[in-house]
Amino acid sequence: MAGGHRFGGDWTDLKLDVLQKYLGFFTSALRNKNFDLYYIDAFAGSGGRLIDRLVENQPFLFGAEARLEQVYVPGSARIALETSPPFQQIILVERHEGRFAALTDLCAEYPDIRARTQRGEANAAIIELCRSTPWLKTSRNRAGVRAVMFLDPYGMSVEFETLREIAATQAIDVWYLFPLSGVYRQAARSGRNLTPDKRAAITRILGTPEWESAFYGQDNRSNDLFASLDDVGGSMDMRRTADVQAIETYVKKRLDSIFPHVSNPLRLKRKDGTPLFSLFFAVSSPNPKAIGLARKVATHILDSGSSSQVRPRK
Ligand SMILES: C[S@@+](CC[C@H](N)C(=O)[O-])C[C@H]1O[C@@H](n2cnc3c(N)ncnc32)[C@H](O)[C@@H]1O
Repeated sequence: MAGGHRFGGDWTDLKLDVLQKYLGFFTSALRNKNFDLYYIDAFAGSGGRLIDRLVENQPFLFGAEARLEQVYVPGSARIALETSPPFQQIILVERHEGRFAALTDLCAEYPDIRARTQRGEANAAIIELCRSTPWLKTSRNRAGVRAVMFLDPYGMSVEFETLREIAATQAIDVWYLFPLSGVYRQAARSGRNLTPDKRAAITRILGTPEWESAFYGQDNRSNDLFASLDDVGGSMDMRRTADVQAIETYVKKRLDSIFPHVSNPLRLKRKDGTPLFSLFFAVSSPNPKAIGLARKVATHILDSGSSSQVRPRK
């Protein structure tokens, strides 16, 4: 079995459940529509992951005990390869050498599925794919290509310009795990700590510098009368007024500006309630029928995700 790496937590089970349900819907719904169906995983990982699972009540010599056992669970790439009905083409992009090698081994386990692995940087790979795939018309007999893309980075790696390219295809449904905690951390509470690097990272992911005026307001509590003398950019007396909810709402607004439909996100949290990611679903097709169906299914899946207890994957 192809190797797995360690990442994530309970929220990982939830996002993969959501993805698995949507992929099953997608290939079933479009099976007889003459499209070629693609799955594109731009941050594909190794195909699986290793988790520690608690095995309880083992009958040991001196009574019941619990111990941790390391188990392999499927990741997004394996889930896509096992989707039924199958995709006509699966494209897996990964930058890390070892994980890329594991993905290649994984694909060899599914000789009947057309799967392609690509080692490289996700943004560049997506842009190249978006521009080179014949989305609208492949041949006289085929209606074109439709795809589901999964954007599952660790951090703030997806550039807004890349999302524009995805939206322009009008043929891709996107699941995007947006790093809410990453942006929250970069957007330092005090304007004094908003370094050029932090500003650039947030602007890259949101595609505009306007977030700054939306997130920050005058800090009326400042009593440093001389601070403004050093404050060339005018941000020293600014304080972040946007909380996590306001930042998430702003992200949705940005996605709404380029995609015809964007779902209300599913907030993924740590066990202690700390918000980590917002799982967004966006449709790039402008076709009202396509939007209607995708929206209905995705909303149902996201609603059941938000109300469900997270159970470990089997
Ligand atoms: C959270 S993991 C993906 C997990 C995977 N979706 C799964 O369910 O098994 C993120 C992966 O993206 C890769 N990665 C991070 N930044 C990247 C980039 N800019 N381009 C390509 N791969 C990247 C990492 O090496 C890592 O394997």
